[in-house]
Amino acid sequence: MANQTNIIIIGVSVGVAVGILVASCAFIAIRFYRKRSHVQNRSVESASTLPIRVNGIDASIDSSASIAVSEIGHGLHDIGKKNHYWGRRGNPSKDLLHSLSGIPRYVYKDIQKATQNFTTILGEGSFGPVYKAIMPTSAVVAVKVLANNSKQGEKEFQTEVLLLSRLHHRNLVNLVGYCVDKGQHMLIYEFMSNGSLASLLYGDNTRNLSWEQRLQIALDVSHGIEYLHDGAVPPVVHRDLKSANILLDKSMRAKVADFGLSKEEVYDGRNSGLKGTYGYMDPDYMSTNNYTKKSDIYSFGIILFELLTSINPQQGLMDYINLAAIGGEGKADWDEIIDSKLSCMSNIEEIRQLADIAHRCLHKIPRKRPSIADVTHAISRIGRRRLNRDETLSIAGSINALGFLKRLERQQVELSHLTSIKESPAAVV
Ligand SMILES: Nc1ncnc2c1ncn2[C@@H]1O[C@H](COP(=O)(O)OP(=O)(O)OP(=O)(O)O)[C@@H](O)[C@H]1O
Ligand SMILES: [Mg+2]
Repeated sequence: MANQTNIIIIGVSVGVAVGILVASCAFIAIRFYRKRSHVQNRSVESASTLPIRVNGIDASIDSSASIAVSEIGHGLHDIGKKNHYWGRRGNPSKDLLHSLSGIPRYVYKDIQKATQNFTTILGEGSFGPVYKAIMPTSAVVAVKVLANNSKQGEKEFQTEVLLLSRLHHRNLVNLVGYCVDKGQHMLIYEFMSNGSLASLLYGDNTRNLSWEQRLQIALDVSHGIEYLHDGAVPPVVHRDLKSANILLDKSMRAKVADFGLSKEEVYDGRNSGLKGTYGYMDPDYMSTNNYTKKSDIYSFGIILFELLTSINPQQGLMDYINLAAIGGEGKADWDEIIDSKLSCMSNIEEIRQLADIAHRCLHKIPRKRPSIADVTHAISRIGRRRLNRDETLSIAGSINALGFLKRLERQQVELSHLTSIKESPAAVV
């Protein structure tokens, strides 16, 4: 009897234990399933409600041609659309480009219409031709068409879109859209009506630039580079700073263009092949293949000397600089090489100061070159001194004018006195 009772107790216990085990398993399975479906729902939700930062709204406030997305409407592809060009071709990396950049995307037909079937060409670089276009909003833009079958260009295209979508500064050329359609890749930029600095200094568009304009351009470019080096997170090195990549807007304010060769400043120790433009490349980079912010500083030094001399770096500028740097009595003689159109005695000190800054940027040892913040500071100081001097001169000028007026007044009184003396006898007669 006792045995029977024991068997019943054991049976019941085992039954209860098995029951608890089965119930626990079922509970865990249900929780796991619920959690998974919740995560899936959340990821779908976040993908469709991902905030899209649109380029052009808070950037380049002094730009005449930037497009606000609310104005675009026509032809703009919905960034969130699922079945877009790259999606249909199943290329996930380019899908990512589309949704990550947040830059408005256009279809080929709209660009064809805006460029009047690609008629007005603004210039041509290694990337391909650049056309003027008028968008349906009447905004004027520049459309850079990537040459077909250029693998290097396609890589630069992706870099440019991704990079520019997160870089916004009044001294960087604003990307306002792009087009990937009918096998074509195009970048749409704000229109810079005064073209490139290179074309103003020695291109088809040559123009006499005043010292004030050159100083302002130097400061604008310095601000643009300062944003890339010290403002962007992570920092960005441009890698192709040259006067052809400095563009000027309708008020002759300068902006840095072309980030296709740019790269975040990470040196992985590997040889990635030299990139850049002859005449602007840091000799230290050419020998070590290690590109740093200081290599950008070197290229900027060359641009500053272009502004001072109007000599093309591809036509022996560096030889002229080296010769002038030796100078006489241990002092550089910049006057020898400065643009003759600039040699006005009132500016000569400022010109020499800018040449000294530029020369420091070209130091053989990269770490001895100034940082971009130092360069901006030094150029601003020249500008400030100039402003103070002009104010003093204008005050002195007004004091002189006052003296002149007083003298004139005195002379008039004397003259009228003389006349009245002369006229008096006649009146008596
Ligand atoms: N946003 C723009 N607004 C007005 N003109 C532009 C604009 N972008 C480029 N251009 C014109 O098109 C020309 C070619 O530009 P692009 O950047 O393709 O070549 P590049 O800078 O001369 O050479 P590289 O390809 O080596 O950088 C420029 O010199 C300039 O005159
Ligand atoms: Mg360019």
